[in-house]
Amino acid sequence: MESHDIQELMSLEPILGASRDELESLQLKRLRSTLQHAYANNPSYTRKFDAAGVHPDDLRSLADLARFPFTTKADLREAYPFGFFSVPREQVARIHASSGTTGKPTVVGYTRNDIATWSNLVARSIRAAGGRAGMKVHVAYGYGLFTGGLGAHYGAEAAGCTVIPMSGGQTEKQVQLIRDFAPDIIMVTPSYMLAILDEFRRQGQDPRATSLRIGIFGAEPWGDGMRAEIESAFKIDACDIYGLSEVMGPGVAQEFAHTKDGPTIWEDHFIAEIVDPATGSVVAQGEPGELVFTSLTKEAMPVIRYRTRDMTRLLPGSATAMRRMAKISGRSDDMLIVRGVNVFPSQIEELILRCKGLAPHYEIEITRPNRLDEISIVVEARADLSDNAHQAEAQLLAAKLKDNIGISADIRVAAWGSLPRSAGKASHVKDRR
Ligand code: DLL
Repeated sequence: MESHDIQELMSLEPILGASRDELESLQLKRLRSTLQHAYANNPSYTRKFDAAGVHPDDLRSLADLARFPFTTKADLREAYPFGFFSVPREQVARIHASSGTTGKPTVVGYTRNDIATWSNLVARSIRAAGGRAGMKVHVAYGYGLFTGGLGAHYGAEAAGCTVIPMSGGQTEKQVQLIRDFAPDIIMVTPSYMLAILDEFRRQGQDPRATSLRIGIFGAEPWGDGMRAEIESAFKIDACDIYGLSEVMGPGVAQEFAHTKDGPTIWEDHFIAEIVDPATGSVVAQGEPGELVFTSLTKEAMPVIRYRTRDMTRLLPGSATAMRRMAKISGRSDDMLIVRGVNVFPSQIEELILRCKGLAPHYEIEITRPNRLDEISIVVEARADLSDNAHQAEAQLLAAKLKDNIGISADIRVAAWGSLPRSAGKASHVKDRR
């Protein structure tokens, strides 16, 4: 994207050209009314604020937000299914839910205005990634309770695109429709994009010969190694889209195609903070920690200081005055502590991608056989790697893990195609301790 394209985006949405001051005064105004709305209409917030001895009127500046209590997934679960809504149920136009690893799903609700806001933010995200009205968008995020499919769908429509609502799965058909319908943009999890890539190759089709030019990938962590892999395999620009159902869904933050320097947080609708996950205090500017979001415009389910469990840090704005987040390094609840060393699966993935003979398909298993943690990794070889080169690749990865993370792992290189593929978010870790 060139700078005149940015001008075009700003003329469509003047807020993208706002200064920090303008943005912050809008945030303060919206934050005031969000706090009042949540306090008045969601009994959980009435209770929480009262218990913490704070009232919406105590907010004089944005910094006062830190005086308000956090919201966690447990708060939403406690109010299951519909108790966290701040409007009468009849005003809720749509429900989504995210399935946790344990227990009940987390339920979220949207008014008609919320759906419009969300669609407009996904439309903005698509434009930031280089998409324009009239383009065809192949949506391979799952449709249904997951926010990925319908979130991308409504956003692509709002951007004036032609939507192909393929959903996840049926990988052969994905390839067929990409070839026959000739989309410009694909929206899908990065791990499922790899499965689609495998299928192109299995069918003997050239993935670089498709009409695709832009990929908008998210819903799970993925690093620069994966970006390089996907961009060169498909000859596309790969941009990161971030979001979570509790805060809205996809489109809370989006990476611009011309900078590719981490997602810009749509700060006219969300306030981001980074806190120390152990103490809850706000960290110094630019320091890493847990991402916390406060919604500024949501009606059905405003969230105040929602603890995402995602680990990242905030970066100054680049394409706009809105700040960016660094790529998610992992989730605080995914962090593996192996013999005292903190390890994020995403770190292991980046190292796998640096081994030329290895494919980004892997499983990490942690056990504790003799009261000591053992980590074993099964990783697929690239299709063209000979069997006798497997051992050398395993040794290379072992050395990288030792040097970069400081852990020793038992590594097995398996034949290409031997591990299961997922049609949505990939699950790479089995913790059997
Ligand atoms: O995954 C929403 C979404 C759909 C985002 C499609 C992007 C694209 P949940 O199912 O509630 O919502 O899961 C949210 O997924 O807290 C992160 O841990 C992770 N996540 C989402 N986007 C990214 C990303 C959707 N770009 C959880 N990078 C979040 C890393 C991501 N992790």
